[in-house]
Amino acid sequence: MLLLCVAVLGLTGSSLSAAVPPRAAAGSRNKLLLISFDGFRWDYDQDVDTPKLDKMARDGVRAEYVTPPFLTITSPAHFTLLTGRYIENHGVIHNMWFNTTTQEKKQYYQTQFVDSYWDNGSLPIWITAQRQGLKAGSLHFPGTAATYRRETVEVRQVEPFLYDHSNETDWRRNIDKVIGEWFHQQDLDFVSLYFGEPDLVGHKYGPNSPERREMVKQVDRTVGYLRDKIQEHGLTDRLNIIITADHGMTTVLRGGTVEEIILSKIPGFSFKDIKFHLVDYGPAGMLLPKEGMLEKVYQALKGSHPHLHVYKKEEMPARLHYGNHPRLLPIILFADPGYVINGFFPVQFHKGEHGFDNQVLDMKPFFRVVGPDFKKNLVVPPFETVNVYPLMCHLLGINPEVNDGHLDNTKDMLAPKKIKRGLNDLSPVVVGITAVTVFLVVVFIMTTSYAGCKRNQAESRFNMDRTSGDFGEEKTDIKQSSF
Ligand SMILES: *[C@@H]1O[C@H](CO)[C@@H](O)[C@H](O)[C@H]1NC(C)=O
Ligand SMILES: *[C@@H]1O[C@H](CO)[C@@H](O)[C@H](O)[C@H]1NC(C)=O
Ligand SMILES: *[C@@H]1O[C@H](CO)[C@@H](O)[C@H](O)[C@H]1NC(C)=O
Ligand SMILES: [Zn+2]
Repeated sequence: MLLLCVAVLGLTGSSLSAAVPPRAAAGSRNKLLLISFDGFRWDYDQDVDTPKLDKMARDGVRAEYVTPPFLTITSPAHFTLLTGRYIENHGVIHNMWFNTTTQEKKQYYQTQFVDSYWDNGSLPIWITAQRQGLKAGSLHFPGTAATYRRETVEVRQVEPFLYDHSNETDWRRNIDKVIGEWFHQQDLDFVSLYFGEPDLVGHKYGPNSPERREMVKQVDRTVGYLRDKIQEHGLTDRLNIIITADHGMTTVLRGGTVEEIILSKIPGFSFKDIKFHLVDYGPAGMLLPKEGMLEKVYQALKGSHPHLHVYKKEEMPARLHYGNHPRLLPIILFADPGYVINGFFPVQFHKGEHGFDNQVLDMKPFFRVVGPDFKKNLVVPPFETVNVYPLMCHLLGINPEVNDGHLDNTKDMLAPKKIKRGLNDLSPVVVGITAVTVFLVVVFIMTTSYAGCKRNQAESRFNMDRTSGDFGEEKTDIKQSSF
């Protein structure tokens, strides 16, 4: 009787249509974990024994490789994963923030905290998910520290300035936190998780080094650890995982065999004609010539070195999507694979580099998925990483922001939907008939039992309110919820 009363009073207080869930996907939504292993090139598992990654490929889907956005560097490429936008559209055009007036530059880490740099009109998926009622988290992922339209990702961990990005013990702690605390205890829907390797060993020792192969084994053990943790917490059937990276890595050519690119040595070029420059940062650079000097600088550099590409911003090949943002400087330079751009003299000694044309095979990252919404043991052809965002929004059942990707490019990975019918899947006619029937039954029940309910409830409220002393207000409440 008491249960019936609660049901009746509840129904009278709210309209019938409010019983329909807001989103069709809400009932069947699985959780999603996006992981990036910085600089994990598409073929890094081909010369190393990687049993855990192989197992994951059998249990899920892997792409041959994926194509990152240009510039193929960390913050811009990660923000493309989070927004589905090309770099010229999301505005995080470089790892470094800079001001051409004051000559100030901020390195990668400090740039993480410049809100106005990240919040340039494209919302990362955390914010969109939160606005649509989901719970999101992020650990170390580029962009985590920033505030977007006054909102941050609600659950987050930003690495300290001096952080050892290679420590396997720490990697496991981070996984424990994300799986055990964030997904299991706090019931988050979406988390992005970042690991700084194998980028660092790739730079330091080169992509063909034993150190890089050793680090790939560490990644493999970590993937095994992650999947074990997920199993331990009973999340295997409720959590989709996407593992990918921001870019690849290629060997820098050195020694007497190659002619290095050193701008100051190029005839007709002088840094005196330059107001601001961003060079000595791998294979790409940007120049702001002084007033009236653009043509002179451009003509001096164009064709000056067989492996240096020189473009006026507006001439940048459209396929690179890196010519159309006010932050881009008037002259954009990039080098062929193996070359880096030096300013006054060579100051770059990395054995491996990235930042090259995204058509270069060595710049392509890997891409693996596993989970309840994905097919098994499938290899799909390459696609651009702008398409990861619409895939994630689909998996989470949220409406995407405007973006440059399309679900068509990734939907072949999805397992056929399990039959799980909610009200929204039924035809309007069926819903209509059901609603009318429910309504008639409710009216019948209420006319026969409402009086009894009211009496009973008033009595029980009175008993409760002897301790809370709020009887008058409660009484009004009961009145309001009647016809
Ligand atoms: C650069 O500095 C100048 C001078 O302080 C300032 O007016 C301008 O807004 C700054 N630009 C950016 C992008 O912060
Ligand atoms: C994006 O950045 C550019 C250059 O800093 C600025 O002019 C523009 O207003 C920004 N747009 C948004 C929406 O923040
Ligand atoms: C790795 O991190 C753990 C815990 O954070 C620490 O105890 C250990 O000393 C670190 N190992 C190395 C090699 O730095
Ligand atoms: Zn990177």
